Amino acid sequence: MDIKYNLKSASERRTEPFMPEGDVGFGKLRTDHMFLMDYRDGQWCDPRIVPYGPFEMAPGAMSLHYGQSIFEGAKAFMHEDGEIYTFRLNKNAERMNRSADIVCIPNIDEAMQLKGINALIDVDRLWFPQQEGACLYIRPFIFATEDRLSVSPSQKYTFCVMLSPSGAYYASGVNNGIRLLISTQFHRAVSGGTGASKAAGNYAASLRAGKAAVEYGASQVLYLDSTNTQIEEAGAMNHFHILKDGTVIIPTFTDTILKSITSQSIMELGEMLGCEVRQETVMLDKFIADIESGEIIEAGGFGTAAVVSPVNSYIFEDGRVITVGDGKVGPHIQRIYKLFTDLQKGHVAAPQGWVKRVERVAP
Ligand code: PLP
Ligand code: COI
Repeated sequence: MDIKYNLKSASERRTEPFMPEGDVGFGKLRTDHMFLMDYRDGQWCDPRIVPYGPFEMAPGAMSLHYGQSIFEGAKAFMHEDGEIYTFRLNKNAERMNRSADIVCIPNIDEAMQLKGINALIDVDRLWFPQQEGACLYIRPFIFATEDRLSVSPSQKYTFCVMLSPSGAYYASGVNNGIRLLISTQFHRAVSGGTGASKAAGNYAASLRAGKAAVEYGASQVLYLDSTNTQIEEAGAMNHFHILKDGTVIIPTFTDTILKSITSQSIMELGEMLGCEVRQETVMLDKFIADIESGEIIEAGGFGTAAVVSPVNSYIFEDGRVITVGDGKVGPHIQRIYKLFTDLQKGHVAAPQGWVKRVERVAP
């Protein structure tokens, strides 16, 4: 399908490279345009790039009532040749369709998703933030638009891609680490539910827990399974820990854990990282005992927005605090963070197909 372009006039859009003065933050800024595609009469149609702006939507649009809405998160980076490169975007397109399956949204051809995202980045390439550590954050999402109030899959949807020039997700960044609240009260997902998808409702369900985390001085909740015995993941990142021999352990993916593309990448990089990376069921009691005995020396989270975020401590709902190692960011996490971000920025050659140049295709 060909993409239609309805672009802002030259006087309304950015004409110079974006050189932000202060920290761009995460997810606050927008670029000039967005990519849209609709689903009606049983097919995806009308791919187009239009000025970024509000949607016109019926008050009865089903996503507003029953939450039939999913999203993705990916990043693009500028390499030293001045070109923009996406990072493993095909994995996001693939996962978008897995999320779609889970909440009964019709799949979108992966090649078409990639074509739309690339065309949008191409049009708004001057928005790439020229700032150390910054990137173009890519947010594709799909939401139900049919004006009907029965609880059943919508017959109409919109696929939208927006871009946000962004920096780090956690203000404390990789230099300090964050604290997580281990909650036995709140759960993110249950088996048979939507936990393995990026369904919007999963994030609505995490807000109350997130608020509680802040009250405990933590950045996020580390969720346990419904029996409160196994570690699952945090609200916006997978969890990992590192043993004293350098082995990285990520909880086994189940239908209550999002299959993080960052985690998968770290697992695939095992050899390049120079350590073993494996998945296993992580029991909470053993995890805590191993931190206390020094068997576990570092811990953190993996995610597109979070990148590699060190966790310096955990707090329980009874106020007990467990510090990981000496509470400082350890050498293994620093090494993983450096290799991963070097691959994204093109400082180190990434495995075949991981980084793809955004071609100049705009009319
Ligand atoms: N887990 C959850 C719940 C998330 O929202 C995210 C972010 O997308 C992740 C894990 C990390 O996944 P990825 O590395 O694909 O961004
Ligand atoms: C991402 O890491 O891209 C995400 O989607 C997490 C988001 C909830 C900030």
